[in-house]
Parts: sequence; structure tokens; C-alpha cells
Amino acid sequence: MATQLNGQFSSRIGFIMAAAGSAVGVGNIWGFPTQAASHGGGAFLLMYAVLIVLLGYPMLLAELMVGRHGKTNPADAMAKLASHSIAKKVAKSIGFISIITATLICTFYSILSGWFISFAISPITEAANLPTATSWLTEFSASRNLVFTLIFIALVILVIRQGVQQGIERWSKRLMPMLILMLIGGSGYILTQPGAMQGLKALFTPDFSMVFDTDVLIGALGQTFFSLSVGTGAMMVYGAYLSQKEDLSKLTAYVTLTDTSVAFFAALMIIPAMYVAQHNGVQIFAEDGSLLNADTLVFTVLPALFDTFSGASHYILAIVFFSLMTIAGLTSAISIVEVPTSYIVEKTTISRERATLLVGATIAILASVIVFNFEALFGLIITLTTERAQPLIALGIAIFLGWVWNRNQLISVIAAQEGVNTNTVFWRIWPVYVKFICPVLIMLIIMQLFF
Ligand code: PFF
Repeated sequence: MATQLNGQFSSRIGFIMAAAGSAVGVGNIWGFPTQAASHGGGAFLLMYAVLIVLLGYPMLLAELMVGRHGKTNPADAMAKLASHSIAKKVAKSIGFISIITATLICTFYSILSGWFISFAISPITEAANLPTATSWLTEFSASRNLVFTLIFIALVILVIRQGVQQGIERWSKRLMPMLILMLIGGSGYILTQPGAMQGLKALFTPDFSMVFDTDVLIGALGQTFFSLSVGTGAMMVYGAYLSQKEDLSKLTAYVTLTDTSVAFFAALMIIPAMYVAQHNGVQIFAEDGSLLNADTLVFTVLPALFDTFSGASHYILAIVFFSLMTIAGLTSAISIVEVPTSYIVEKTTISRERATLLVGATIAILASVIVFNFEALFGLIITLTTERAQPLIALGIAIFLGWVWNRNQLISVIAAQEGVNTNTVFWRIWPVYVKFICPVLIMLIIMQLFF
């Protein structure tokens, strides 16, 4: 039985791409604009930016640190923070809950990403004049959802079976730059279209009465952790694959910056696109100004926009955009599936290949249950995992890192980063910040749910 995870990223850029690949995903391009559009535009943007700095960055650093120190799956990495047997058990349970949370996240994530695949294929059937196939691909149905969820899970398994360097790192390095270029190009283009300026205004004018609205706050917190993949063990596992030489504060900053910029560019593309689509006669808003079908925003707004292009360009745009969305989903799902996989590989004699298949099959079964009980389960699982479990797990990590982990050990782990000057204000403040401020902030926001 292995006692340590033995994969390792081969290079710094490989790690950054993989961690940014985990962070950048459906959450940025579907979740962030949807949340911003339904939570007062600028108000949400402002709260999100504040929370990324106050909680996202410090907690991402914490999770990577715990992972790199543990060099093992999330449950055992958490247990390594404690020395007392009861504390060890509690820590291990938190790690274990993160493994379950990751597995559950992967279910709805695969359903969503499956939609992107079907929307990437639909322009082809449309161009080939196959209306029945096109409507099956673009209209909501259990059969379509099931087929593409399973295809997506199969793709994830194909990549992840190849291991850390050949699978995760190689694919993230290829796919991430493409996605970023596409988003910059897309938002640049949209902003030249009639109606786009109204969208910009909606995005950047904060409705200050909504800044401290409970829904906005909880939504922004969930989005912060979800977007940075914090509180699922994914970053702990990626931390375990990272060499001791790297300066975590810098790497974390790169990942946070990439993730936030992508979310920002996605919003800069999608929110103005809503107004451009509206300008072109597509109904996006209800009479009272609220959004129609917020959850399927990206799937109605963008195709409607692509349709306004003539000739082949609208097919090409749609294929490229939805393929890239699939890619963004893929690099994130890889990191999620790696969480339960790392646990099985370490805890049993099952090979990596088989463990991946086992996890994939479990996720496929759970996702199928959701597909057939969509109304009841889809939203529920999203809320339970992203707005409840992820903040609670992050709270557990902050408490264990700050209060249970032996301070001398934490300092020695910080100091062990080769070639990094750890005698700086940053490294002196961060442990105190995670100990006192992070738990209080997370608790204050979570408490809003109950009052
Ligand atoms: N951060 C990803 C996104 O924004 O789409 C989602 C995600 C990936 C959540 C990995 C959790 C996770 F462990």
C-alpha cells in the first residue's frame, strides 16, 4: 500500500497551468456571469473582488500548504496537522468530507459540461441540415443530458488515467492558453456590437443597496471558493504534487489572478452579449427587468448572438466557443476526480487506472440519478456542495491550520521553501490572518444563512 502520492508536476508552469486549469472552469464562464447578472451586476462584482482578496487567496494558499506538507490524500493530509488522536480523527473526517464533496461536485459539473459538448456539436448538425438532431442536441431532455454527461466523464477518465505529468499537466498546458485567448478575443468583439455598452453599464454600476444583501454575500462566498476550487481537497492534492522548492505565495497569486481575470473577461463577454442579443430581438429579460432562465443564460444568449452572424462564421464561432468551454470544464473536472482517485490509490492496492475507472463509474451513476431527478436534485446538490460544504470545509482547514497545527511546525514548513525569503511581512502575517480572521469571516457569512 502506498503511503505517499508519488506523482509530481515536472515544472512550475505545469503546476500553474494545472492549478489554474482546476480553478478556471464552468464556474468562471457559466457561474460567474450568471451570478453577476442575477445579483445586481456591479454589487456582486464588488463583493466577489473583496472576498477573493480577503478569503480566496489566503485560503487557497492554506489548502496548497496543507497539501504540500502532507504529500498525501486530503484525509491524511488533514490528519497530519494534528498530534492528538481525537483531533486527528476530526481532521481526517474533514478531509474525508472534502473527498465526498468533490465526488458530488463532479456529478453536476459533468452534467453542465456535457451541455457544452452537445452545444459544440449542434452547429455541425445544423450546417448539415439535420433539424431533428439539432433540436435534440440543443433542447433540454433527460436522454441528451445522460448521453453527454457520460461522454464528458469518459473524457475526464481518459486524461486522468495517464497520470500527473502525461495527463493532467500536459493537457492543462495545451488547453488553458487557448481558452484565455478565446475569451479576450470574444469580449473584445462583443464590445464593438450595438447594445453592448448598456451591458457594460449594468456590469460596472454597483447597486449599493445590494452589496450587503445576504443572497449576494452567500452567492459571492460560494462563488469565491468554488471558483478557486477551495474546500474540496483538489488543491490539497495538487499541493501534494508540488515540489518543496516553489514559493507558494507567488504561485497562489498567479493562480488567483488567472482565475479572477478569466471570470472577469467571461462576464465582460457574456453580460454585454445579453444586451446585444436583447438589442437583436432575443428576449433575455422579463417585463420586470429580471432575467429569464438565469441558469441557461450562456446557452440561450450566446447561440442567439452567434446566430446574428452570417455565413459559416456563426457555426465556427459556436463550435470554437463551446469546445473551449468543454476544455475549461475538463481541466477542472480532472482535478476534482483526482481527489477520490488519490485516496483510493493510496488506501488500497488498486492500480491508478482501475481507481480512475471506479471513481468515474461512481460519478456516472450518481450523475444519472440527478439527470432523472433533475428538478429535485440538480440545484440542491449545487447549493449543498458549493454554498454549504465548501465554506464549512474551508473553515475546518483554517481552524486546523491556525489552531491545531503546531506553530513551530508551520513556521518550519514555511521556512523550508527553498530559495524563498520567508522572513517577510507577508509570511509573518499570513499564519495569524488564517488563524484569526479567516474563520471569523467565514463564520460571519455562513451565519447569514440562519438569520
Ligand atoms: N473551479 C472550478 C470552476 O470554477 O469551474 C470548479 C471546481 C474545480 C470546483 C475543482 C471544485 C474543485 F475541486
